[in-house]
Amino acid sequence: MRMNASGIAAIAMAAGICAVAATHVSIAEETADPRQAIALEPAERAFVLNEMRNFLQSVEGIVSAVASDKTAEAASPAKKSGMGVMHAVPPTLRQKLPKEFKMMGHQTHEAFDALAQEAGSIGDKTAVLKQLETILNTCNTCHASYRLTGG
Ligand code: HEC
Repeated sequence: MRMNASGIAAIAMAAGICAVAATHVSIAEETADPRQAIALEPAERAFVLNEMRNFLQSVEGIVSAVASDKTAEAASPAKKSGMGVMHAVPPTLRQKLPKEFKMMGHQTHEAFDALAQEAGSIGDKTAVLKQLETILNTCNTCHASYRLTGG
Protein backbone atom coordinates (compact mmCIF):
# COMPACT_ATOMS: atom_id res chain seq x y z
CA MET A 1 0.00 0.00 0.00
CA ARG A 2 1.31 3.45 -0.95
CA MET A 3 0.69 6.31 1.36
CA ASN A 4 1.01 10.06 0.98
CA ALA A 5 2.52 12.40 3.58
CA SER A 6 -0.81 13.40 5.12
CA GLY A 7 -1.75 9.72 5.55
CA ILE A 8 1.50 9.09 7.41
CA ALA A 9 0.91 12.19 9.53
CA ALA A 10 -2.61 10.99 10.42
CA ILE A 11 -1.26 7.59 11.52
CA ALA A 12 1.51 9.25 13.52
CA MET A 13 -1.06 11.48 15.27
CA ALA A 14 -3.31 8.54 16.06
CA ALA A 15 -0.32 6.68 17.50
CA GLY A 16 0.52 9.76 19.57
CA ILE A 17 -3.01 9.92 20.98
CA CYS A 18 -2.83 6.22 21.84
CA ALA A 19 0.50 6.77 23.61
CA VAL A 20 -1.01 9.64 25.66
CA ALA A 21 -4.04 7.50 26.55
CA ALA A 22 -1.77 4.60 27.53
CA THR A 23 0.29 6.91 29.78
CA HIS A 24 -2.86 8.04 31.57
CA VAL A 25 -3.86 4.45 32.25
CA SER A 26 -0.47 3.55 33.70
CA ILE A 27 -0.41 6.64 35.97
CA ALA A 28 -3.85 5.69 37.29
CA GLU A 29 -2.62 2.15 37.93
CA GLU A 30 0.45 3.38 39.76
CA THR A 31 -1.48 5.65 42.12
CA ALA A 32 -3.92 2.91 43.16
CA ASP A 33 -2.36 1.02 46.10
CA PRO A 34 -2.21 -2.63 45.04
CA ARG A 35 -1.18 -3.89 48.50
CA GLN A 36 -3.57 -6.09 50.44
CA ALA A 37 -4.84 -4.34 53.56
CA ILE A 38 -4.66 -6.20 56.89
CA ALA A 39 -7.08 -4.71 59.44
CA LEU A 40 -5.69 -4.72 62.99
CA GLU A 41 -6.46 -3.13 66.34
CA PRO A 42 -4.27 -0.06 67.02
CA ALA A 43 -2.21 -1.98 69.63
CA GLU A 44 -1.69 -4.90 67.23
CA ARG A 45 -0.57 -2.58 64.45
CA ALA A 46 1.82 -0.88 66.88
CA PHE A 47 3.20 -4.30 67.83
CA VAL A 48 3.90 -5.24 64.18
CA LEU A 49 5.46 -1.85 63.39
CA ASN A 50 7.68 -2.10 66.48
CA GLU A 51 8.89 -5.48 65.25
CA MET A 52 9.59 -3.87 61.87
CA ARG A 53 11.74 -1.16 63.43
CA ASN A 54 13.64 -3.89 65.28
CA PHE A 55 14.24 -5.60 61.93
CA LEU A 56 15.74 -2.41 60.55
CA GLN A 57 17.95 -2.01 63.64
CA SER A 58 19.23 -5.54 63.12
CA VAL A 59 20.04 -4.70 59.49
CA GLU A 60 21.97 -1.62 60.64
CA GLY A 61 23.90 -3.65 63.21
CA ILE A 62 24.82 -6.30 60.64
CA VAL A 63 25.96 -3.78 58.02
CA SER A 64 27.93 -1.88 60.64
CA ALA A 65 29.77 -5.03 61.79
CA VAL A 66 30.58 -6.18 58.26
CA ALA A 67 31.66 -2.69 57.14
CA SER A 68 34.09 -2.51 60.10
CA ASP A 69 35.55 -5.93 59.22
CA LYS A 70 34.16 -7.37 62.45
CA THR A 71 31.76 -9.83 60.83
CA ALA A 72 31.50 -11.99 63.98
CA GLU A 73 29.88 -9.00 65.71
CA ALA A 74 26.96 -9.23 63.26
CA ALA A 75 25.72 -12.27 65.22
CA SER A 76 24.32 -10.28 68.13
CA PRO A 77 22.11 -7.79 66.19
CA ALA A 78 20.97 -10.64 63.90
CA LYS A 79 19.93 -12.76 66.91
CA LYS A 80 17.71 -9.88 68.12
CA SER A 81 15.42 -10.52 65.12
CA GLY A 82 15.69 -14.32 65.28
CA MET A 83 13.04 -16.93 66.10
CA GLY A 84 13.46 -16.11 69.80
CA VAL A 85 11.28 -13.00 69.48
CA MET A 86 8.40 -14.85 67.81
CA HIS A 87 6.90 -16.20 71.04
CA ALA A 88 5.96 -12.60 71.90
CA VAL A 89 3.39 -12.43 69.07
CA PRO A 90 -0.08 -12.44 70.72
CA PRO A 91 -2.26 -15.35 69.45
CA THR A 92 -5.13 -12.93 68.68
CA LEU A 93 -2.84 -11.01 66.32
CA ARG A 94 -1.48 -14.20 64.77
CA GLN A 95 -5.05 -15.23 63.82
CA LYS A 96 -5.58 -12.03 61.83
CA LEU A 97 -2.46 -12.36 59.70
CA PRO A 98 -2.74 -14.01 56.27
CA LYS A 99 -0.90 -17.33 55.86
CA GLU A 100 1.60 -15.93 53.31
CA PHE A 101 2.35 -12.99 55.62
CA LYS A 102 3.11 -15.37 58.51
CA MET A 103 5.25 -17.53 56.25
CA MET A 104 7.35 -14.57 55.14
CA GLY A 105 7.65 -13.33 58.72
CA HIS A 106 8.73 -16.78 59.89
CA GLN A 107 11.22 -17.04 57.04
CA THR A 108 12.73 -13.66 57.98
CA HIS A 109 13.22 -14.63 61.65
CA GLU A 110 14.80 -17.94 60.61
CA ALA A 111 17.08 -16.19 58.12
CA PHE A 112 18.33 -13.80 60.83
CA ASP A 113 19.18 -16.84 63.01
CA ALA A 114 21.02 -18.47 60.11
CA LEU A 115 22.95 -15.24 59.50
CA ALA A 116 23.83 -15.07 63.22
CA GLN A 117 25.17 -18.61 63.03
CA GLU A 118 27.25 -17.93 59.91
CA ALA A 119 28.65 -14.69 61.36
CA GLY A 120 29.48 -16.31 64.69
CA SER A 121 31.12 -19.42 63.24
CA ILE A 122 32.87 -19.11 59.87
CA GLY A 123 32.25 -15.37 59.69
CA ASP A 124 32.64 -15.13 55.93
CA LYS A 125 31.84 -11.56 54.94
CA THR A 126 30.49 -12.38 51.47
CA ALA A 127 28.32 -15.20 52.77
CA VAL A 128 26.85 -12.91 55.45
CA LEU A 129 26.13 -10.18 52.90
CA LYS A 130 24.51 -12.72 50.60
CA GLN A 131 22.27 -13.84 53.48
CA LEU A 132 21.41 -10.22 54.21
CA GLU A 133 20.51 -9.70 50.55
CA THR A 134 18.09 -12.65 50.74
CA ILE A 135 16.56 -11.21 53.94
CA LEU A 136 16.11 -7.77 52.34
CA ASN A 137 14.47 -9.42 49.36
CA THR A 138 11.83 -10.90 51.68
CA CYS A 139 11.35 -7.48 53.39
CA ASN A 140 10.65 -5.95 49.98
CA THR A 141 8.39 -8.76 48.78
CA CYS A 142 6.21 -8.46 51.88
CA HIS A 143 6.18 -4.65 51.75
CA ALA A 144 5.02 -4.79 48.13
CA SER A 145 2.17 -7.14 49.09
CA TYR A 146 0.65 -5.84 52.35
CA ARG A 147 -0.27 -2.74 54.31
CA LEU A 148 -1.76 -2.39 57.78
CA THR A 149 -4.92 -0.50 58.62
CA GLY A 150 -6.66 0.30 61.87
CA GLY A 151 -3.96 2.34 63.62
C1 HEC B 1 5.68 -10.54 56.65
C2 HEC B 1 5.68 -9.26 56.00
C3 HEC B 1 6.81 -8.31 56.26
C4 HEC B 1 8.16 -8.61 56.30
C5 HEC B 1 8.85 -9.95 56.07
C6 HEC B 1 8.82 -7.36 56.61
N1 HEC B 1 7.92 -6.34 56.74
FE1 HEC B 1 8.33 -4.45 57.29
N2 HEC B 1 6.36 -3.96 57.19
C7 HEC B 1 5.36 -4.82 56.81
C8 HEC B 1 4.09 -4.10 56.77
C9 HEC B 1 2.74 -4.70 56.37
C10 HEC B 1 4.38 -2.79 57.15
C11 HEC B 1 3.37 -1.63 57.24
C12 HEC B 1 3.23 -1.01 55.86
C13 HEC B 1 2.04 -0.10 55.75
O1 HEC B 1 1.03 -0.25 56.48
O2 HEC B 1 2.07 0.81 54.87
C14 HEC B 1 5.82 -2.72 57.43
C15 HEC B 1 6.49 -1.60 57.86
C16 HEC B 1 7.84 -1.52 58.07
C17 HEC B 1 8.54 -0.36 58.58
C18 HEC B 1 7.90 0.94 59.05
C19 HEC B 1 7.76 0.88 60.57
C20 HEC B 1 6.97 2.05 61.18
O3 HEC B 1 7.18 2.33 62.37
O4 HEC B 1 6.15 2.65 60.47
C21 HEC B 1 9.87 -0.67 58.60
C22 HEC B 1 11.02 0.21 59.05
C23 HEC B 1 10.00 -2.03 58.11
N3 HEC B 1 8.75 -2.52 57.82
C24 HEC B 1 11.20 -2.69 57.99
C25 HEC B 1 11.33 -4.03 57.58
C26 HEC B 1 12.59 -4.70 57.37
C27 HEC B 1 13.97 -4.07 57.50
C28 HEC B 1 12.29 -5.97 57.02
C29 HEC B 1 13.20 -7.12 56.70
C30 HEC B 1 14.33 -7.38 57.55
C31 HEC B 1 10.85 -6.09 57.01
N4 HEC B 1 10.30 -4.88 57.35
C32 HEC B 1 10.18 -7.25 56.72
C33 HEC B 1 5.49 -6.16 56.52
C34 HEC B 1 6.68 -6.87 56.50
